[in-house]
Amino acid sequence: MAILNAFHLKKYYGRDEGLVKALDDVNVSVENGQFAAIIGISGSGKSTLLNMLGGLDAPTSCSVKVEGRSLEKLTEEQLTVFRRQRIGFIFQNYNLIPYLTAVERLRGMER
Ligand SMILES: Nc1ncnc2c1ncn2[C@@H]1O[C@H](COP(=O)(O)OP(=O)(O)O)[C@@H](O)[C@H]1O
Ligand SMILES: [Mg+2]
Repeated sequence: MAILNAFHLKKYYGRDEGLVKALDDVNVSVENGQFAAIIGISGSGKSTLLNMLGGLDAPTSCSVKVEGRSLEKLTEEQLTVFRRQRIGFIFQNYNLIPYLTAVERLRGMER
């Protein structure tokens, strides 16, 4: 069974002369238990794709389905819970919040 699906996924940034088609008609399907890696040259859209699949950002068009749930139908709060419980992200840059201590940061994640 596929636990992750996206068909004809598009993510465009900017507009007019500045338009960047970071993802243009991408199809992805991952089976339960499958280990998948995304490889490609710098700027080819790997981070953009992972942001869409992990519910961090919304696609320009197409729906991302994880475990049968369409992410675009979730409220911001439901998305937060989804990311917390179902997705593990290790960021390239650490996304640390400079004015919080480690303990304060973890307290904020307890909710
Ligand atoms: N927030 C953004 N605004 C405008 N363009 C972006 C943004 N994020 C990424 N891009 C562009 O989208 C393309 C794909 O970028 P990215 O997903 O970061 O690629 P990769 O992770 O494979 O290096 C690149 O051309 C990049 O410049
Ligand atoms: Mg990247």
